[in-house]
Amino acid sequence: MAVELSIDQGLAHLHLNRPKALNALSFGILQDLNNTLAQIEQAIEQQHVRGLVITGAGEKSFCAGADIPELLGRTLVQQHEGARLGQEVFNRISALRIPSVAVIHGYAFGGGLELALSCTFRIATARAKMGLPEIKLGLIPGYGGTQRLPRLIGEGRALDIILSGRTVEATEAERIGLVTRLVDEGNPYALGTEFLAPYLKHGLLALEMARQAISRGVQTTLEQGLKIERDLSTLIFQTADANEGMTAFVEKRPAVFKDE
Ligand code: CAA
Repeated sequence: MAVELSIDQGLAHLHLNRPKALNALSFGILQDLNNTLAQIEQAIEQQHVRGLVITGAGEKSFCAGADIPELLGRTLVQQHEGARLGQEVFNRISALRIPSVAVIHGYAFGGGLELALSCTFRIATARAKMGLPEIKLGLIPGYGGTQRLPRLIGEGRALDIILSGRTVEATEAERIGLVTRLVDEGNPYALGTEFLAPYLKHGLLALEMARQAISRGVQTTLEQGLKIERDLSTLIFQTADANEGMTAFVEKRPAVFKDE
């Protein structure tokens, strides 16, 4: 299987396993990803999964983007359907209730970087190289890159990266906020779990509402964003976890959150 899912100790691990093609995303792989996401959504509710780590197989690549030979033979209708599916799958990742991290230990190009951009966080090792090189193929990004990249790093930097198609090295990616953190080389899954650990000790409802307040807020005016924050901070106040968190502080003990 080119898309592997494992669940262990409250974490889901989604592994792209097509190393001979640098984990390129064929249409079939996108469909497998979509089906796997349905399993992850179910596991969040039924198996108490609280984080998602996405990795790519092999030494060289997280994911080299859409499958180029496959793109070449597509009709316009097939291409439109491919873009719709790619956007749907990546929207589904960004809408997951749990935080996710893409571990970029090598190449993350085109659809591969767009996959990483749909995650809550991206971490990279020194060997990571990323970019949206579609322009060199006579194309433009189609799985969310023209929308998520400027929202993350600003319009000017996104214009530079998309219009040049150039490769961004790991240190620059960290400096401009394209990746959240640089990490030492190691097993990609272990790097991802270690990175997520400080977030996952908090309650899911608070994590979810904080993410919502930020992601909805950055897409609107400050005034409307403050209203979103007011409403969500009032909503979270009514949860059992909020009561537990504040009570634990007063009683000078660690909080035990139950996601209620
Ligand atoms: N699709 C299909 N196969 C790919 C691929 C891709 N995107 N990227 C690499 N491969 C294959 C190569 O064809 C090669 O296969 P063979 O051994 O059978 O020839 C194998 O993976 C290894 O690749 P290289 O020999 O090229 O490895 P390298 O280390 O010399 O170079 C690379 C690595 C710089 C990533 C180079 O492979 C490359 O430029 N790949 C294309 C990257 C790209 O343009 N991605 C964007 C795709 S379009 C897109 O994603 C649109 C969108 O918005 C969704």
